Amino acid sequence: MQETISQYTSEIKSFQAKSQDELESFRIRFLGTKGIIKDLFEAFKTVSSEEKRVLGKVLNEFKQLAEAKYQTLRESLESLDTQTESGQDLTLPGEGFELGARHPLSLVRKEISEILKKQGFNVAEGPEIEDDWHNFSALNFPEEHPARDMQDTFFIKKGGEKGDIALRTHTSSVQVRMMEAGKPPFRAIMPGRVYRNEAISARAHCFFHQVEGLYIDENVSFADLKQTLFHFVQELFGEVTKVRFRPSYFPFTEPSAEMDISCSICKGEGCQFCKHSGWVEILGCGMVDPNVLENCNIDSKKYTGYAFGMGIERITNLKYQIKDLRLFSENDIRFLKQFQSEMI
Ligand code: DAH
Repeated sequence: MQETISQYTSEIKSFQAKSQDELESFRIRFLGTKGIIKDLFEAFKTVSSEEKRVLGKVLNEFKQLAEAKYQTLRESLESLDTQTESGQDLTLPGEGFELGARHPLSLVRKEISEILKKQGFNVAEGPEIEDDWHNFSALNFPEEHPARDMQDTFFIKKGGEKGDIALRTHTSSVQVRMMEAGKPPFRAIMPGRVYRNEAISARAHCFFHQVEGLYIDENVSFADLKQTLFHFVQELFGEVTKVRFRPSYFPFTEPSAEMDISCSICKGEGCQFCKHSGWVEILGCGMVDPNVLENCNIDSKKYTGYAFGMGIERITNLKYQIKDLRLFSENDIRFLKQFQSEMI
């Protein structure tokens, strides 16, 4: 019996399990209820009491050896299990996802929309590729107006010739689409991207973003326009903000104005941003020209309305003191990350 045990001992010592199945066979073979150790203990009962003294110790040590071997192999297989074939440890904690940040222009567009939605404006959109009618003619632009010039507008050539398709130069084109498609009253804002053929610099870009506003109903007056914009600005820049309107000209509004606000950076004291005037222009506006209403089949005797248009970049520059327009489209993560706390 001693000899058998010593043979098994060397078998156990040299045994290596490459899988759980192999280990399980080992357990059944040696430690199972019908296993070798069980058999040896059965046989042990039959030996003489003299032999028992020596053998008892050997047998017990053998049993401990088998149990210890099983335990070690099990542990090492378990730790192997947590590694994939490529050697990756699946028990390691995962790599966290970094939260993205909203683009500052999206944040400001959202803020503008939220304020005006509270004043009863819907949000609408229109196409960026427009025809001459929606971008110019319906908006009362005369044939020879400089904005139609190739220098300002990206025309899209049809068959090698300059066609009447262009990238919209302003969101006012969406006004026309809205008025053509429905019946008054209209009260909506129309945010979107616009394009102009400008050399890219800190102060100009070939594309930027605007929000257009339109309100058409019976008895809409310039006073309504002023009040809406006044409240808008107070919500966007704070109650201390002052406004002033200056007479201006746009083909699609009559009368027309430009609105300035007291510079939110220097609080009207005078700084580089407001060119030391204390005021910054933020939008154009006016009463919709009756010609525009008629072009869109709206009775200009019955209905009046106002419109306004503002650049989102300009408002964002003011809110966040960003001086270079190019930052908005460079996708520099160091710039964009600064808006992380504004995550909504
Ligand atoms: N469309 C003008 C622009 O790009 C902005 C504008 C001015 C829009 C006056 C209006 C408005 O609706 O009434 O520059």
